[in-house]
Amino acid sequence: MNTNSHHEELQRLEQEASSRAGAVQSAEELRRVESSLLGKDSPFGGLLKHLKSLPPEQRGAFGQAVNGAKARIKALLEERLAALESAAARTEDDAARAFDPTLPGAQRPLGSVHPVTAVQWEIERIFVRLGFTIEAGPEMESEHYNFEALNIPADHPARDMQDTFWLKNGKVLRTHTSPVQVRAMHKFGAPLRTLVPGRCFRYETIDASHENTFHQVEGLMIDRDISIANLIALAKLLLSEVMHREVELRIRPGYFPFVEPGIEIDMNCQICGGKGCPTCKHSGWVEILPCGMVHPNVLRAGRIDPEAWTGFAFGLGLTRLAMMKYGIRDIRVLNAGDLRPLVGARRLTGPIIKG
Ligand code: DAH
Repeated sequence: MNTNSHHEELQRLEQEASSRAGAVQSAEELRRVESSLLGKDSPFGGLLKHLKSLPPEQRGAFGQAVNGAKARIKALLEERLAALESAAARTEDDAARAFDPTLPGAQRPLGSVHPVTAVQWEIERIFVRLGFTIEAGPEMESEHYNFEALNIPADHPARDMQDTFWLKNGKVLRTHTSPVQVRAMHKFGAPLRTLVPGRCFRYETIDASHENTFHQVEGLMIDRDISIANLIALAKLLLSEVMHREVELRIRPGYFPFVEPGIEIDMNCQICGGKGCPTCKHSGWVEILPCGMVHPNVLRAGRIDPEAWTGFAFGLGLTRLAMMKYGIRDIRVLNAGDLRPLVGARRLTGPIIKG
């Protein structure tokens, strides 16, 4: 081979380097290409041998040509290495940033209000609009407020109607929200409009329709000329607004020692629409609102003059109303701690702060 063909060989090596470097896809592959192009057994070895056989005056130029080619190949490989490394970094970044809009979203558990609380808040809103205050009373109540002040003396048979939890300290777990009637009379006097949602307790055997812990809402309105017509109108408004439809009422006489006259307001069963089902015991009606005109003895216990003032009171079965509204057929579901049957009552609004 003469010197010219050695120059051609150098050019060919540079071209080969350029095309092989362009084809490699990893730094590791690139290192293998580098050692085959520039390493010990590379074609440059043969070219250096050729250098020794040249006449001394040609050696300088040829040596420079060899070194120049080597340097250019080295630079080319380094450039390719840098390009490969930055491409790898970009791929990693892209993977981290990747967003796949077709993937299902993360499920966040959404809290919801207990059905009884939801109905309670709804009722509070209705009554606050009508100028009622919201009151609370103690769950551990004195015999006086739970019974005597409500015209239920110790020997009165009505005490047997209310299976009472008696406490060692002589108090009771209140069997109804009615004791707060007299507490509110003491606090505000007359005229008076107040609503008392609260938890009540009875010594009951639990089954699908009985609980030892349940909720009522007591209502009390005292003014100059309150009549039973006001009471019935309010009952109709209350039940229709809570059920979000016009409900039918049935009015029967009822007996409660703290009202005279006492009445029972029934609502057409919202579960079967009045046709008859286990919830309404196949009658088409449910007892929902026992009520009446406040007994003069109760007004007196509240230090209000029964000659000057009249009033009505009601004791809404809040638990039963919530069951009707949300189609819950078994009362035990409400206190059982299994959230699944309860989520239907989700409400996004907050409670009215107790006064
Ligand atoms: N306190 C009664 C009960 O729990 C319900 C009741 C009836 C309340 C008539 C009233 C009323 O205010 O007027 O059985």
